[in-house]
Amino acid sequence: MFARRIAVVGTGYVGLTTGACLASLGHRVVCADVDEIKVERLRQGQIGIREDGLAELVSEGVAAGRLSFIVGAAAALDELEREGVPVEVIFLCVPTPMGVGGIADLAAVEAVIEEVRDALPPNAVVVNKSTVPVGTADRTAELLERDDVAVVSNPEFLRESSAVNDFLHPDRIVVGSSSQDAAERVAALYARLGAPMVLTDAASSEMIKYAANCFLAMKLSYVNAVAELCERLDADVADVTEGIGYDRRIGQAFLSPGPGWGGSCLPKDTQALLQVADAADFEFRLLRATIDTNTRQYQRMVDKIRTAITGKRTGSLTRRRIALLGLTFKAGTDDLRSSPALGVAALLKQAGADLVAYDPGVLADEVLIEGSLMTVVDDPYLAAKDAEAIVILTEWPEFRTLDWSRLADAVAVPTVIDTRNLLDPDVLRRAAFAWVGIGRTMRG
Ligand code: UDX
Repeated sequence: MFARRIAVVGTGYVGLTTGACLASLGHRVVCADVDEIKVERLRQGQIGIREDGLAELVSEGVAAGRLSFIVGAAAALDELEREGVPVEVIFLCVPTPMGVGGIADLAAVEAVIEEVRDALPPNAVVVNKSTVPVGTADRTAELLERDDVAVVSNPEFLRESSAVNDFLHPDRIVVGSSSQDAAERVAALYARLGAPMVLTDAASSEMIKYAANCFLAMKLSYVNAVAELCERLDADVADVTEGIGYDRRIGQAFLSPGPGWGGSCLPKDTQALLQVADAADFEFRLLRATIDTNTRQYQRMVDKIRTAITGKRTGSLTRRRIALLGLTFKAGTDDLRSSPALGVAALLKQAGADLVAYDPGVLADEVLIEGSLMTVVDDPYLAAKDAEAIVILTEWPEFRTLDWSRLADAVAVPTVIDTRNLLDPDVLRRAAFAWVGIGRTMRG
């Protein structure tokens, strides 16, 4: 395999993982960011992201002279040029936040194109790795105004907290372009990974990313709805999902019910595809229902908590003290973006509850939720002090091994509402806690 000369623009989750992993595959990579402080920290090996194995890959790449960091996309091209061979592939990994009406905001992509347009050598390839609306590759090509530079879509499917592993052991690699040659050159960068390769046109490649994330969201909304039905029919969702998951067409993954799905991708991508469908005059009812089911899930969790604390579906939560365990959108990350835990917390706050939270990934402080402050402490036992209920909102494995007898002594009322079905009901029962899960009967 030939080592290629690559610039990666944007050093967030996607960019930094892409840069470090491509360097580990033997390529020469310069990562660029507009944030000078971030670049300086990266040069010192401070990656600022909680991601298994990433810090090691970054320091290995830097030590081997294959990975470096610089301020500005144009400067990254200059650095490679100075080394004697110009850039061959430039990856755009800049943020595409949800803009007006749910459509991704492409200002950052446009700014990079503007910056590098005249500096790109002939035959270079511009690769879009950010999740962008279908048609962005064509739009990027128009902005570039360079017939000698091809644009390729190569979406990433990384999950936060397992990004390095996902990059190095992907289920598939998707590359789309109107230029067969450019697509093959990008695909060749990953040759060592031996993953299935889907080579297609740019619009299909962009669509694959949305279709995948929206399918995952739909799967979770479906499971959360099935869990609700299980509660009403006295069935156990854990057994139901195990039973359906053995069907290879369904699979065991992504079948855990929860307080709703969140994070930086699924909420943004479901909204974006809905807008794209609307613009294409297609009423995507299934996707709309997927999103609505998720929004209702937060309220459903609050109803559960209300019933557990007051004994009534309509009881008042005003000044009821509730301990929240978990705030991040999933375990293993410090990311609070579109976290369902915060969605539930905001509704509890609106209902007048008095909240104290603990999360292993979040520093003790105060977190702003929907305009009001919530106290975050650095000790789960302190969070539980005098609480009328403990609510598990994120599936941190360490919550399983807390000293539940000690927690029973700390709380005012020993009740746990476990929105992730994380805990062992028998352990809780032995510690004299009443346990309420999702879609499960107490037989646990
Ligand atoms: C997701 C996609 O999985 C990834 O392919 C894409 O590149 C980016 O978006 P990520 O945002 O890291 O990755 O989170 P993911 O692990 O998919 O979880 C999304 C949400 O679903 C979280 O809130 C999580 O707690 C929830 N979830 C996941 C469940 O409630 N149950 C499950 O079984 C799995």
